[in-house]
Amino acid sequence: MNNNYRLPNIKKGFVHTNVKTVEQRAVLLGNYLPATKSIAEVCCGNCFYQYQIYERELQIQKFLGLDIVPAVVEANKRQGVPCVCGDALNGAVLKNFLDFDVIFFGPPLSIECDGHQLMTFNEVVPSYSEFVELLVGELKYGGTFICICPKTTTMGDIRKLYNAVKIQNDKYGLAVIHYSYSDITSDGTVTESRLKYVELWFSTALEDRWEIQESKPDK
Ligand SMILES: C[S@@+](CC[C@H](N)C(=O)[O-])C[C@H]1O[C@@H](n2cnc3c(N)ncnc32)[C@H](O)[C@@H]1O
Repeated sequence: MNNNYRLPNIKKGFVHTNVKTVEQRAVLLGNYLPATKSIAEVCCGNCFYQYQIYERELQIQKFLGLDIVPAVVEANKRQGVPCVCGDALNGAVLKNFLDFDVIFFGPPLSIECDGHQLMTFNEVVPSYSEFVELLVGELKYGGTFICICPKTTTMGDIRKLYNAVKIQNDKYGLAVIHYSYSDITSDGTVTESRLKYVELWFSTALEDRWEIQESKPDK
């Protein structure tokens, strides 16, 4: 295993995506890609909300999580969430995800996945560019994939990743840049509305519009 990987400190607990962000993703999927039947979550962490909300809101037929930490995979399975153990940067592992309509790539965005010691776009490991080289370049994935990026992600970071995707497959465009705000943390604590993620929705099926979508809890 790559020593630079950011693994959750299970003893301290670790953040997973707050329920409002997952609901916002379901709304966008319903609007942009209503025919979605299968969704995978790579670097899934605890993905119970995703599993539950995508099944309920989108009636998907298949969901699968991937995480490198066996305890995380077991915790998901105990909640009934389909999940496998492996490295997102291992081609033999990732090729099992090629027939999913949509893949969310949500690498750790904070040290020990604590939600506090935040990383910048360039510090994230596994990096977005390595993931794209493998998924789009080597494995020739053609579906929609969504890179979940830190809230500090800039337009320069976005352009760099866009170029990296286009080099691998020119049919891809960046359809949506989603700014996800939430007023609830992953453990359910209520806060003021805060920007949580910048998500880059790459697709061969949607227009290359760089459309800005802001989801706020009070909207
Ligand atoms: C906290 S979760 C992110 C949750 C969710 N995907 C999101 O959007 O917020 C990050 C997970 O990535 C896992 N992870 C880190 N490096 C990985 C790798 N190389 N391959 C697969 N999973 C990895 C960690 O074990 C951790 O559970």
